[in-house]
This record gives sequence, structure tokens and C-alpha cells, in this order.
Amino acid sequence: MDYREAYQQSVSDPEAFWATQAGLVDWFRKPKQILDSSGAPFHRWFPDGTLNTCYNALDRHVIKGAAERTALIYDSAVTGNKRSYTYAQLLTEVAAFAGVLQNLGVEQGDRVVIYMPMIPEAVIAMLACARIGAVHSVVFGGFAPHELAIRIDDAAPTVVVSASCGIEPSRVIEYKPMLDKALELATHVPAAVVVKQRPQAEATLVEGRDVDWDVAMHVGRSDPAGCVEVKATDPLYVLYTSGTTGKPKGIVRDNGGHAVAMAWSFPNIYGCDAGDVWWAASDVGWVVGHSYIVYGPLISGATTVLYEGKPVGTPDAGAFWRVIDEHRVKALFTAPTAIRAIKKEDPDGSLVAEHDISSLETLFLAGERLDPDTWAWAGEKLGVPVVDNWWQTETGWPIASNLRGLEPMEIKPGSPSVAVPGFDVRVLDGAGTEVPPGTEGAICIKLPMPPGTLATLWGDDDRYVSSYLSTFDGFYLSGDGGYVDPDGYLYVMGRTDDVINVAGHRLSTGSMEEVISQHPAVAECAVIGVADPMKGQLPRGFVVLKSGVEADPDDIREELVALVRSEIGAVAAFKEVVVVGGLPKTRSGKILRRTMREIADGKETPVPSTIEDEGVLDTLRPVLRGE
Ligand code: COA
Ligand code: AMP
Repeated sequence: MDYREAYQQSVSDPEAFWATQAGLVDWFRKPKQILDSSGAPFHRWFPDGTLNTCYNALDRHVIKGAAERTALIYDSAVTGNKRSYTYAQLLTEVAAFAGVLQNLGVEQGDRVVIYMPMIPEAVIAMLACARIGAVHSVVFGGFAPHELAIRIDDAAPTVVVSASCGIEPSRVIEYKPMLDKALELATHVPAAVVVKQRPQAEATLVEGRDVDWDVAMHVGRSDPAGCVEVKATDPLYVLYTSGTTGKPKGIVRDNGGHAVAMAWSFPNIYGCDAGDVWWAASDVGWVVGHSYIVYGPLISGATTVLYEGKPVGTPDAGAFWRVIDEHRVKALFTAPTAIRAIKKEDPDGSLVAEHDISSLETLFLAGERLDPDTWAWAGEKLGVPVVDNWWQTETGWPIASNLRGLEPMEIKPGSPSVAVPGFDVRVLDGAGTEVPPGTEGAICIKLPMPPGTLATLWGDDDRYVSSYLSTFDGFYLSGDGGYVDPDGYLYVMGRTDDVINVAGHRLSTGSMEEVISQHPAVAECAVIGVADPMKGQLPRGFVVLKSGVEADPDDIREELVALVRSEIGAVAAFKEVVVVGGLPKTRSGKILRRTMREIADGKETPVPSTIEDEGVLDTLRPVLRGE
């Protein structure tokens, strides 16, 4: 099948298309029903099928003769450690840890929160959950205790799995004290906490609650767990992502649809398959890490690289090229910001020449808009196609891409290429009418979305519907704006809501505003994302102080920066705050964030007719423009 044929079938007869792709997965009970839309707008894929995701990622390869193939290469640029696991070895570790979880009382359907750096134990913990039908929820290490506590309270885990520390280029980050603090803040109390001790900072364990990973594994190895049969529609994981408010959204991924989507997308989009060495330089705390560090490559039988380090500073801007050289990586997936960071340190790409990167066939970039300069630089220095792909935590896999395995096509800089089979992408105007090619609008996906996309929000069906499905009847609202060109190429121009993207990390300005509002001197505030040449966007806060506050604005600014760092985390990269006299509002009191954002980005934007006091905006204009 070529692209056009596959795409046409996937949208005109999705059941036939996905019935075929279901064959890529091993089932306990093969689904007879492919799609159940009886509960629309909720759609369920493969409702009568049963399977185990861990079985598909590990056991089946071992059973089918690939036991000695390398499944995972751990390369830690921050510690110098390197370790490889064959499929058989990874299976042994996963089955042992699954046994540990069962011994700690984790049952099918229970949640396990994983708060870990990029070490093999994080992957082992995820797959161990999948093995026993538990639902993992990985929380990115850069989040502070308060954010972790919110997620612990929402997911209500039976067990939390963590490590004593993570290692950033400039410092060792002690995870365990942050976890202890989060558990103090949370109302939910897990039955146990498992901690992987690392020599860079050993953690103090709490008697009666905390369990040492290595000690537990000693026991687990003599009591490994088998694969539990789960329904295709049972949840595999919950991954929290930033919405427009301070409460993150718990994206629910099911087992069956997800396994099929991973098994189809990895070879067809990324052009890699069993035996290939693949490297997604992301973090298991993000969706890219879930889909393409862990599940996609392993379900396909490939070798996945788990890299603990940065593109620069560990030790230099040649780190990525060293990893490609050493492990003979066929394709690399990272965020444009990582390439921009490398380009800044090594503009001529001279470090590329110090390594043999001849194994590399493709560079995939996603997570934020890929600007044509970065695209061109990477293509020129690496001499391989640079492929943009657009997706979201919600969709779990690309909505738009150049399909390198199915049918590589022309690459147009600035566009992630075409809609991926399964995603019926439409650009709509405010009234819900499809706009002609070249006209910008809200990028939407006609329901049903394909397998592997979000089933709902954890414990909150209503919020799922109100956030994504209620704006345009029958469509999923992506939250991104953009247009399609006459050749069907999509151009994604950015978020239309208050979600921002900082160095490929998705963050909520609403949650930053909630934190800033806690400061006793602040009357009101707005945080917007402003364009940044390195990180794509950076948050910038505008605060109005309460009348009568006499503190030095510089002190308040410092306090606010420290507050956001301690409440949300260093990853928020919140460093800029301006004290202003007033914020522009509508007559009904809504702060005109979009107008502020557009002015800050240097766009000509009309003043909304609903503005309460145009003078406030006029005063703010030079501040927004950084004049
Ligand atoms: N644990 C603890 N702290 C973390 C962390 C983690 N896992 N990840 C980041 N941080 C901290 C950083 O140390 C930094 O702290 P600082 O303010 O004290 O310097 C802060 O959070 C901001 O991090 P970041 O925005 O990543 O900036 P950086 O300057 O450290 O690194 C890049 C810049 C471009 C090298 C880095 O952001 C990067 O590699 N980005 C790619 C992102 C990515 O892969 N996204 C996934 C989508 S594919
Ligand atoms: P996340 O859920 O963290 O993956 O972030 C998803 C958001 O990142 C999307 O809604 C987009 O705003 C942005 N994004 C991801 N990939 C791309 C891309 N290739 N081009 C433009 N924006 C992107």
C-alpha cells in the first residue's frame, strides 16, 4: 500500500484498516469487534480483544528467537555508565520487578507512580506495571514536589517507584527528598515506596514504607510475575500533561489500541523495525519517551537507546554524534531545541566530523515547531533527511508526518508534511466550517480518532469532553492553529490556548499564574509565552501589586521566580517578571492574554472591541515589546 491508498482506507473504512493492523500484535483473544462507537463521543478500539502489552514488548521476541538481540542500550553521559540488556535479560528484570510490585500489593488496575531519572529501572518499572495490568503514571523528574503531589493525589497509586537522585550537568538532583515532600503535601498515602539507590546521593529510607530496589529485586528474582491478560480497553498508563489551568490533565492510554498504534507507527512513520538501533533522545517523563523510547521500538523488536545526558554540556556539543557513532544508531528522534542548543555551541558542526555517523539515516524532530533554519542546519551538517512530525501527549503518536517507512515524500521546510493514516485532519474556522487551503484555523481531527489516542482523562470524562470535544461537534480540538497547503501539507503555527512550549517541555501558564497569585503582594497577574531563539518559547510574567505594597519590585521579582521554581520546578524556566501598573482586560474582566502574546511576538494585532480600557494596553505595549 502506498501513502494515499493507506490514508484513504484509514479514513473511509477505519475498521478494515485497523483490523489488518491488529495483526501486528499478539493477542490472548483476537478482537472480533474492531470499533465500538455506541458510546460516542467515546470510541473504543478492539473492545472484545485481550492482550498484554509487556508480552508484546518482550516475551514474544524471546519466544520467537530474538532472546539474545539487544533490547536496550543504557548510555549515561553524566555518569559514564553504559549497559546493554538483551531481550531475555530485560524480560528477566521486568518479570522480577513485576513480582516485587505484586508482593507489595499491586493488583490489576492499581496505579503505580514512577518518578525517576533516565535509568533502565524506569523502563523496567513501566514494563513491569504493564505485565501485571497495573497502570503506570510517570512524572517527569524536573517537576517540584507540589506538582508531584497533585499527580499522586489524582492517580492514587498503591506504590511509588523512585530513585535517590538524578544527575543534571551542573548538579545532582536529590529526588527522594522531593518525593518525601510531595508525600507530605499529598493526602493520598501509597502502601510502599521503592527506591533505586544511586551512589551519587544515597537516600534515607523511611522505615516501614520505603523499600530498597536492589533488596526487593533479590527477592523478586525468585518470584517473577507472568503476563496478566487485560482487556484492550483497560488502561496501560496515565500521563499527566499541562492544560490551561493549574490542574494537569491525566491522559489515559489503553492497552490494545496503543499496542497496535505503536506496532504500526514505528515501522511506517519512522522506518525502523526489528533489529534496528533506534534512539529517541527524550525523557520517559514525556509522551515521546513512552511511545518511542519504550513501547514503539520494543513492540517492534528494535534496539532502543536510553540516554541519560543532554545534547550539550555532557561533555560537549558532540555528545549526540558520539552516541550515534558508538551504538551505530540508524535514526535519532529529538526536539528542535536540542539541535538549536548544539548549533549555538558548535555553529560549524565541526564536532560532527569527529565521529563516524554513517549509520544515521534519518533525524526526526518533534515536540515544538521546527523552524526552517534549524531544519536546514541539521540537514546540511548531518547529511540525512530531517523529518518534522507533529503530535501531542493526547494523541500518543504522530498526527502529521512524512511517512519514512510507508512512502517517503518531498519534505517542505516549516511543515510536518501530511496527515498520518488514521487521523482525519480538518482545519476549521470559528463556526466549525472547514476553511480552504492556505487559510489558518483551528486544527481538528474528525472523530473517531485512531487507536492509541487518548481514551479519556483519568477520572474525569466530563473534562475530556469539555476540553477537546465540545467546541466542534464530531471533532477533536487539538489546541493548535495552522493551515493546509494545496498539496495537503500541514503547517502548525502554534497553540491557540495558554499552553506554552519551553525547550520542548509543555507547560501551563495558568499553573504559573496560580503560583504567582499566592504571593501576598500580588493583586493580579498574567503569564504568557514569548518567542525565544533557543528554547522556542519562554514564560514571562506580568504582575500588578496590591495597592499599598511598598516592597522593592526587584525583591518581589526574585521571590516570584523562586516561588515558581519551588512550586512547579526548574523545568518551568520562569525567570522573567515585570511589575506593571495594570493588565488589559475585557469589559467582563478577562485578561487579554492572546493580545498580549501577539504584541510580545511583534505581530500587528487589532485591539479587541471588548477591551475595557485601551489606555492600559497602550501603556503596556512597549513593555511587551521589550522596549
Ligand atoms: N530533573 C531535574 N531538573 C531538570 C530536569 C530533570 N529531569 N530536566 C531539566 N531540569 C532543570 C535543568 O537543570 C534546568 O535547571 P536550571 O534552571 O537550574 O539550569 C531547568 O530544569 C530548565 O531545563 P531546560 O529547559 O531543559 O534547560 P537546559 O538549559 O538545562 O537545557 C536543552 C536546554 C535544550 C539542552 C534541553 O532543554 C533539552 O535537551 N531539550 C530537549 C527536550 C526534549 O527532549 N523534549 C522532549 C520532546 S521530544
Ligand atoms: P506535548 O503534549 O508535550 O507533546 O506537546 C504537544 C504540543 O507541542 C502540540 O500541541 C504543539 O503545540 C507542539 N508541537 C509538538 N510537535 C510539534 C511540531 N512538530 N510542530 C509544531 N508544534 C509541535
